[in-house]
Amino acid sequence: MAQYTIAWLPGDGIGKDVMDAARLVLDELHLDAAYPHGDIGWEFWCREGEAFPARTVELLKQVDAAMFGAITSKPAKAAEAELAPELRGTGLVYRSPIVRMRQMFDLYVCLRPCKAYGGNPLNFKEGIDLVIFRENTEDLYAGVEFSPVPAELSAVLARTSKPFAVFADLPADAYAISCKVNTKRGSERIVRAAFDFAKQHGRTKVTVVHKANVVRATDGLFLEEARKVAAGYPGIQMDEANVDAICMWLLKNPKSYEVLVAPNLYGDIISDLAAQMVGGLGFGCSGNIGEKLAVFEPSHGSAPKYAGQYKVNPLATILAAKMMLDWLGEAEKAARLERAVAAVIKEGKARTYDMGGTSTTLEVAEAVVRALRG
Ligand code: NAI
Ligand code: MG
Repeated sequence: MAQYTIAWLPGDGIGKDVMDAARLVLDELHLDAAYPHGDIGWEFWCREGEAFPARTVELLKQVDAAMFGAITSKPAKAAEAELAPELRGTGLVYRSPIVRMRQMFDLYVCLRPCKAYGGNPLNFKEGIDLVIFRENTEDLYAGVEFSPVPAELSAVLARTSKPFAVFADLPADAYAISCKVNTKRGSERIVRAAFDFAKQHGRTKVTVVHKANVVRATDGLFLEEARKVAAGYPGIQMDEANVDAICMWLLKNPKSYEVLVAPNLYGDIISDLAAQMVGGLGFGCSGNIGEKLAVFEPSHGSAPKYAGQYKVNPLATILAAKMMLDWLGEAEKAARLERAVAAVIKEGKARTYDMGGTSTTLEVAEAVVRALRG
């Protein structure tokens, strides 16, 4: 039996193209792994009314890690219209498989490294090397939302919150409420993950991103938990920044940041900002990491217009595979892979269209394979 079992979830569109590329590279590294395929995505929604079939959930319970390409998602009406005729009107509701996967397997860390590899023409500045820890299960993405607002909720708010008085007389469908829910446990564990990472990787500073001066209850709790965690890491400086200010500072002085940690929504926003500074969608990769399972993916979507054309940049997915190797404890293979990617970028010969080149997805992967061979 192979040492590792890695669920292989290409999904839709270019998810398949970039996962083929990542596989070439993993095979060259001779990782002792089996890669059972998992069905996920739009095709299964249309055919079975389930984008994340139960058999795939079962598969994920049995593997060491997963690699995930991308999926197509569409708004509710379009989702209903594309269902197989016999499934239409049966009350099926489309929900994003990746969001469900994060919740179901408690993948509470969203880890997003943003590194400017030398010679990438898309770099905003050379030398950027920061890592973002985004809380992945709660905050404004907890899914606690009301539209229209139930009368009981409005009555409780009118009784218990002074500021709510200005909304209290509005008709139920004239407003909506999305709740930001942050727990002590959720805040503590994501901040701890960031500090542990800093400690393990010799980083000296962790920047905690919040808006506690305005969003007092939830961000106040996050910041308070962060300060408690930081006290246990005497060698690492805790830096605090408001989310709006950090967008400005990141653009101005990106090289001053090492590790950032944030609640879900702020983390989502700053990670897109940071990804764009190091090459954008072709380079942005992330790990969704829990205690038992971790799922690695490029940050981009299924880009339907390029599906099957093997035109898009596979490096985000190849770097996601590198993150997986690190997570599995295969540090030597991870480091070799990263050096190979860096060499290909620096050489500048194999480039997909986004980098100004004409290479195909697989040609870039083959260049990485050649660099691995040395
Ligand atoms: P997208 O990320 O799929 O593509 C936007 C554009 O970015 C593409 O048309 C292409 O020009 C460029 N691009 C994306 N990946 C690239 C790569 N590897 N190399 C070079 N260029 C690349 O975003 P879009 O068009 O908003 O969404 C398409 C579908 O993907 C939607 O159904 C959306 O819901 C879904 N999506 C899925 C995600 C996931 O699976 N995690 C994340 C984002 C979107
Ligand atoms: Mg995003």
